Amino acid sequence: MSQPVTGFSKLSKIEKIDWLLQHHFDNNSEIKKVILQYWNTDEALQNLHDEFIENTVSNYYLPFAVAPNFLINGKMYTIPMTIEESSVVAAASKAAKFWLDRDGFKAEVINTTKVGQVHFTFSGSAMVLRNFFNNVKSQLISDTASLTTNMQKRGGGILDIELRDKTEQIPNYYQLHATFETLDAMGANFINSCLEQFAKTFKSAAAEDIEIQPHDLTIVMSILSNYVPQCLVKAEVSCKVEDLKENDNENPHEFAEKFIQAVKIAEVEPYRAVTHNKGIMNGIDAVVLATGNDFRAVEAGIHAYAARDGHYKSLTHSEVKDGIFKFWIEIPLALGTVGGLTKLHPLVNVALQMLGKPSARELMQITAVAGLAQNFAALRSLTTTGIQQGHMKMHLMNILNQMGATKEEKAKMVDHFKTHTVSHSEVVKTLASIRQSSTNQ
Ligand code: MEV
Repeated sequence: MSQPVTGFSKLSKIEKIDWLLQHHFDNNSEIKKVILQYWNTDEALQNLHDEFIENTVSNYYLPFAVAPNFLINGKMYTIPMTIEESSVVAAASKAAKFWLDRDGFKAEVINTTKVGQVHFTFSGSAMVLRNFFNNVKSQLISDTASLTTNMQKRGGGILDIELRDKTEQIPNYYQLHATFETLDAMGANFINSCLEQFAKTFKSAAAEDIEIQPHDLTIVMSILSNYVPQCLVKAEVSCKVEDLKENDNENPHEFAEKFIQAVKIAEVEPYRAVTHNKGIMNGIDAVVLATGNDFRAVEAGIHAYAARDGHYKSLTHSEVKDGIFKFWIEIPLALGTVGGLTKLHPLVNVALQMLGKPSARELMQITAVAGLAQNFAALRSLTTTGIQQGHMKMHLMNILNQMGATKEEKAKMVDHFKTHTVSHSEVVKTLASIRQSSTNQ
């Protein structure tokens, strides 16, 4: 157990590492080596990363991969994906190729409205508050002029502010519920700045209103909402049931039936729905991370949406109608392609350029497609071969790396497991026998 420390943030980076070593690692120089090993030799690049957050001591790498062959609304994309889990990118690429040969993905943005709220309590009359709000509403908007001018010039800004009475849930609790259009920005800073200005104007105008007692009104907090059910995107694929067939020994009708059953199960059974949606998030988070967006916000918003009617369920849906198989997803996604990390992080910049510098609306569509593709690939495996066959093949490299296999050993092992089932014990046994036979030679 380390002792409490004061002034830690003021220490230099190397002093922080030395403190860590002393207090947590018994001054083990191997640990220091690992931490330093991940520093970038390009000092400017390292400084850039150090300054993203506080108390940085090293970098934490995640693989940056690409999934090609995505045809979305008639346009080809190679999708950047940042994720640590093996099989995800392979599955996305496989699904992309499958649907490339079947007219690709269609996607559309349904709406792009974002929300922020000033939460406050008011102990006076509700009628007085309503009149006061109606009188002050235009000033709430005009006082934010310096914040909103640029956004407004581009066609965005504050859409509306409503007074919401929440006193049935919590005594004296009200909200200024505001809606925003933030265009290509995710908009968190814009929304939060506007909300804090609303709160200031609201409080100071209330202080001058003779009908309101100074102690009647307390601002509790002002913050955007990551629940964005009006910032929605839909993506879908469809084809004739017969065209679902990939090889001769498949029955596409049986496949479609089983696939739809699997989606239905995720619509009614929360234990399955969470895993089903987790697979969707494998695709979504990977794109959100690669493009420098806030995956925590996206996760929170999407899962809340999955439970919007009080019952957590699948984000995807599937049907067969008139011989046509259709599979689609509808999710809320608040993404940005300007601001935040988008210009700062060199790899995020590469990711966005790879996608053709998309607008936020286009990125919403691409991201939803990545989620749908991932879910298609997962359900296809689950309802046919099971996922372990493909997953363990991809995981083979992780096991071999853990066991310190050489390049030659890896090549032999990959070859061997083309025709054998991968399991941890099989890998250990086979590697031992390869090593044994090469020492005998
Ligand atoms: C694993 O990361 C994701 C899956 O479990 C998703 C699913 O079960 O649908 C394969």
